Amino acid sequence: MTDYPLQDQLRRPIRDLRISVTDKCNFRCSYCMPKEVFGDEYVFLPKQDLLSFEEIHRLTKLFVSLGVKKIRLTGGEPLMRRGLPELVEKILSVDGVEDIGLTTNGVLLGQQAQPLYNAGLRRLNISLDALDPELFGKLNGRGVSPLHILKQIDHAIEVGFEIKVNMVVQKGVNDCEILPMAAYFKERGITLRFIEFMDVGNDNGWSFKKVVTKKEIHERLLSVYDLEPVDKDYFGEVAKRYRYKDSHAQVGFITSVSESFCSSCTRARLSSDGKFYTCLFATEGFDLRKLLRSDLDDEELLDAISSVWVQRTDRYSDERTEQTSRSRKKIGMSYIGG
Ligand code: GTP
Ligand code: 5AD
Ligand code: SF4
Ligand code: SF4
Repeated sequence: MTDYPLQDQLRRPIRDLRISVTDKCNFRCSYCMPKEVFGDEYVFLPKQDLLSFEEIHRLTKLFVSLGVKKIRLTGGEPLMRRGLPELVEKILSVDGVEDIGLTTNGVLLGQQAQPLYNAGLRRLNISLDALDPELFGKLNGRGVSPLHILKQIDHAIEVGFEIKVNMVVQKGVNDCEILPMAAYFKERGITLRFIEFMDVGNDNGWSFKKVVTKKEIHERLLSVYDLEPVDKDYFGEVAKRYRYKDSHAQVGFITSVSESFCSSCTRARLSSDGKFYTCLFATEGFDLRKLLRSDLDDEELLDAISSVWVQRTDRYSDERTEQTSRSRKKIGMSYIGG
């Protein structure tokens, strides 16, 4: 048995587990699930390949015993997995889980916000890349109106959720929406986080030229607002947050391209078919489903998980170049959930 607490080769502990619950999504964002790849013929994972809620519950207990305190549910689009409130309850019943959040495109919150809240979920990160109807409809690949998402956000707030909004910024595509988005969410006291466009997956058309850096966005905001930095909420928080000086509203930046944060990366990721990844930009995952469905006991599973983490050396964003972004074979964003 390994001695706990666990640390990887760069002395990073394991603190967060991002669990993808489905590889399906009702959007086709070009930077994540381009229609040309994820068309009508695309074959998603069959149900029996997905980890069951019991299997996710067992893994959660094991990861928590190794140091994980925060859980985030992702997809694809996690609300497309049936029965999600039951999974939230199961995860929250694990001693040692201090926080659970969910990252969603928000489309299905109308039906699901209340049951998820009743199950104990309190935090939602909702993606929205533009307020302009034509642009947003094009970006999501399904013609869904931003008004629909804004309505879901209002509904989720009424239910009682704490909300953050994520906007992926692409140069020449939606950077014209930076100030309108900032104004809209400042007014409502909702934290908006600008995410630098990343080279996830193998075919999202990324290049450095398409990235709008934190510095550029910050400068645009400063032309209108006074901002002051806010302390991190927890060690390893990915966003750098600021407060508008004339209100309580905050705005954040996720700078994985211009100011990478690998040295404090304490995140493990689990795909919906049970592969364990130690980086968003990994090529290979470790097949935990196979072990779960064998007759190994918990101690043996713990040893397997620990040995993957102690060997971890990932720091992709620290090392990113145009060359690595093209040559490295990476897992897909919709498969690993960001
Ligand atoms: P909280 O801080 O708990 O609210 O969640 P979060 O910001 O970690 O989660 P969310 O799913 O909202 O992620 C926001 C963005 O940060 C997404 O684009 C993620 O892909 C990106 N992100 C999260 N973790 C990492 C990471 O470890 N590496 C990189 N490069 N990007 C990450
Ligand atoms: N670069 C940055 N963020 C991305 N996301 C999806 N693809 C990318 C990308 N290429 C975001 C989604 C969501 C979160 C999970 O990751 O918009 O907010
Ligand atoms: Fe868009 Fe998120 Fe769906 Fe990917 S998983 S297509 S980023 S909504
Ligand atoms: Fe962590 Fe990999 Fe992202 Fe670096 S690039 S912060 S190691 S997930």
